[in-house]
Amino acid sequence: MTTEDNTPNNKKEEYEIDTLTNKRLLSNHEYDGIRELDNDLPPWWKWLFILCIVFAIFYMVRLWVFRSDDLIQKKEFDNEMANVKTVKPTETFEMVLLTDNVSLEAGKETWLKICAVCHLADGGGLVGPNMTDNYWIHGNTVENMFATITNGVIEKGMIPYKDQLSPKQRIEVISYIQEVLVGSTPAVPKEPQGELVE
Ligand code: HEC
Repeated sequence: MTTEDNTPNNKKEEYEIDTLTNKRLLSNHEYDGIRELDNDLPPWWKWLFILCIVFAIFYMVRLWVFRSDDLIQKKEFDNEMANVKTVKPTETFEMVLLTDNVSLEAGKETWLKICAVCHLADGGGLVGPNMTDNYWIHGNTVENMFATITNGVIEKGMIPYKDQLSPKQRIEVISYIQEVLVGSTPAVPKEPQGELVE
């Protein structure tokens, strides 16, 4: 049964056979009388292991020799930064009137919620001037109106909105005034104030 022969060219002789299963036992591997069978690794495990090694070699060659992947951190980082740069300009605003429905609706909402108290919902004017005529105290260009709404005319009762409204919201409400209110006919129009502007 036991042939404890340690010469390398006689390897087969190192194994003992388990009497229950008739399988090979590991030699020199006994604890408290418990022996371990010398089973092979399951084939699926062995193949998975080999595939992992093969994959790793291809992966490393692709990444470090051909540098053909975004996985290189520097490249990944550069791509991210490029995206940031292309996103930024949409956050800035231009001093032009907006004519799309979404912006005009947003402008209307601001107008009714904040401005209508003094200028009336239909723009006819109350404490503040009429917004439907072509008479303007502080000018009617987008820049003029933006300045008026941003800084207010505190001594006359026009509130500064630079903290309360974002630049975009200010442009939206200016667009609503110019595109919808100017030229409309309010119920009770306040008399013209300021200069006639064409
Ligand atoms: C508390 C009252 C009040 C509120 C609220 C108010 N305004 Fe005024 N607004 C005035 C007064 C008063 C004037 C006139 C200022 C002057 O005589 O110089 C004025 C002037 C203006 C002007 C200049 C008009 C011109 O003839 O040049 C614009 C534009 C304007 N307001 C827009 C707005 C907008 C937009 C809002 C809302 C975000 C708003 N106002 C909210 C009282 C108000």
